[in-house]
Amino acid sequence: MENLIYLDNAATTLKKPPAVVQAVASALSCVGNAARGGHAGALAAARTVYDARVKLAELFHCPRPDHVVFTSNATEALNIALFGLLGPGDHVISTDLEHNSVLRPLYALEEAGTALSFVPADRLGRIDCSRFEDLIRPNTRAIVCTHASNLTGNPVDLARVGRIARDHGLFFIVDAAQSAGAMPIDMEEMHIDVLCFTGHKGLMGPQGTGGLCIREGVEIRPFKRGGSGVHSYDPHQPAQYPTRLEAGTLNCHGIAGLSAALDCIKAVGVEAIAAHEERLTRRFYEGVRQIDGVRVYGDLTFPRAAIVALNIRDYDSSAVSDALSENWGIATRPGAHCAPRMHRALGTEEQGAVRFSFSLFTTEEEVDAAILAVKTLAE
Ligand code: ALA
Repeated sequence: MENLIYLDNAATTLKKPPAVVQAVASALSCVGNAARGGHAGALAAARTVYDARVKLAELFHCPRPDHVVFTSNATEALNIALFGLLGPGDHVISTDLEHNSVLRPLYALEEAGTALSFVPADRLGRIDCSRFEDLIRPNTRAIVCTHASNLTGNPVDLARVGRIARDHGLFFIVDAAQSAGAMPIDMEEMHIDVLCFTGHKGLMGPQGTGGLCIREGVEIRPFKRGGSGVHSYDPHQPAQYPTRLEAGTLNCHGIAGLSAALDCIKAVGVEAIAAHEERLTRRFYEGVRQIDGVRVYGDLTFPRAAIVALNIRDYDSSAVSDALSENWGIATRPGAHCAPRMHRALGTEEQGAVRFSFSLFTTEEEVDAAILAVKTLAE
């Protein structure tokens, strides 16, 4: 692993701040079960979880830490938001940029009677935000969209879409899987009702962590039901957040790591992280765009997520990714990236694409090594 050039940070950040590793190890030996007792271990768990809620609320400008709900990943958060707010007879607007974590729940809702519309992406994978307004119908309940495509890194102007949602009384549900921790997010300024995030990408925490931040007054139906540590004689899931959406034991060990990661992000600053990742993304893009036989996808204007997707000639993207891994020790992700509509928009359904994605821990030397490898393969 030491010599691995890890450029698959859009899948997960493999290199974590050392404090994250230490926090998980320490939690494994000292936390009990949050909200399940008054002994030292249970209280340590409850404090760990509450501290993490407070830090996430601060990072995303969510006014109420008790409206930060933990889940195991962004997919679970999105399922909770979509199935908990929408139903038959409703209409929802989404985009071609979405990951299957949004698309598959939407398609399941459609089978049960929810109508869907999609803002199309052009050949550069961009959407025209004014199209949201054109698609609104009398029964439209929500706009759900990603902050940044996991395939191209292309961003969505959340403030603009949020204004449209607010002006038309629609729920605005955001998938921040590719942006949380690496791009500034302000739920208030962007008029976001439900922000869904994962803990293991830009937030640099452990896998198995994620959640939702919910605007006060947004009532999401429970997605699962079970033990909550409170109101045990009530046959129903407790009504108050976060317990309403958190049946079962939380991943307190993971949340401890996420909490340590949030301290690191605060110390460095999201703007500084974004600036570092922008430098690397620009450097890589400038290095590969002129290489004969290389085709880069997406709109490489900033701000955007730190992702560059490309193909070399008509080589299969999996073969290129394998060659990068085997011959240069460079980790990338090929194929379809769980983003079928975006691949169709780019015309890469057959070939897939090779995705390079950067993080706070990526260096210029690693980027240069990747440019050289692409150049060599293209020649
Ligand atoms: N959603 C993750 C990705 O884009 C796993 O690779």
